[in-house]
Amino acid sequence: MEDTAIEYSLRPRYLAEYIGQKQAKENLKVYIEAAKMRKEALDHVLLYGPPGLGKTTLSNIIANELGVNIRTTSGPAIERPGDLAAILTNLQEGDVLFIDEIHRLHRTVEEVLYPAMEDYALDIIIGKGPSARSVRLDLPAFTLVGATTRVGLLSAPLRDRFGVVSRLEFYTVDELTYIVSRTADILQVGIIGEAAREIGMRSRGTPRIANRLLKRVRDFAQVKGDGIITLDIAKTALKLIQVDDLGLDEIDHKMLRAIIQSFQGGPVGLETIAATIGEESQTIEDVYEPYLLQIGFLQRTPRGRIVTPLAYQHLGLPMPEPK
Ligand code: ADE
Repeated sequence: MEDTAIEYSLRPRYLAEYIGQKQAKENLKVYIEAAKMRKEALDHVLLYGPPGLGKTTLSNIIANELGVNIRTTSGPAIERPGDLAAILTNLQEGDVLFIDEIHRLHRTVEEVLYPAMEDYALDIIIGKGPSARSVRLDLPAFTLVGATTRVGLLSAPLRDRFGVVSRLEFYTVDELTYIVSRTADILQVGIIGEAAREIGMRSRGTPRIANRLLKRVRDFAQVKGDGIITLDIAKTALKLIQVDDLGLDEIDHKMLRAIIQSFQGGPVGLETIAATIGEESQTIEDVYEPYLLQIGFLQRTPRGRIVTPLAYQHLGLPMPEPK
């Protein structure tokens, strides 16, 4: 099987197979069942949260559970209003339209979406100047599932048109351990329970990272061991790929050290941190910061980011003397 095909088969297809996100899952289950009972399209759903927590997976599950087709696109891929109009007019009754990175929709495209979401209608302007008129086209009832890592960047009118708004949370170690075991099963690789847990602990609350680490550890088990992932193999491999006990990688370390060593632990602005370590500020904000905030290594203040004593401890660095 080619890699993308494997990737797809790792994703759970129904809610019953989906581990974690208890709140989002239980609520969605009710909304889906109610929509099916009424034979109506499910209300529009907005999923937000850090990358890798299962937004795309959940949108596919929603379509599967509803028994409808899903059309997948992303904010930046829809360049002009006409592109969105073409997608909308090709939907069938009840279908799911999944727009990833929905915060990156162009304003002009977003405006086409408002009547589509609210009234299942498409307003088309015919002609130009004084003779221009608007014609309303009916669309099939559909469900928009929007996903974003940056809910704060969504315009209020767009956000307000979602009937269901769900924030995805970081996963617990137990949940990640379960996901690692499940994926190992699918990949047909043997793994000791303790090794699955070790990978789970170092996955930053994120299934995408757990599955990626599992694949890399599997490589080591295959080449350096007898194919079975033992705790020893897992620990050795994770050390070699520079993932520490808490799942922090080189960039996390670089960032924390930069704040400590160049800015006395902060506060320091995001842009300054980004320039210091040579990373995009958006990547830091979307990918690195959420987990460091979650585990209490970093704090956000109006004057910038501060590294906490916990982070000093983890890095084995002395706290500065109080001034
Ligand atoms: N694989 C990736 N994410 C998953 C999840 N939430 N549940 C089950 N398997 C997964």
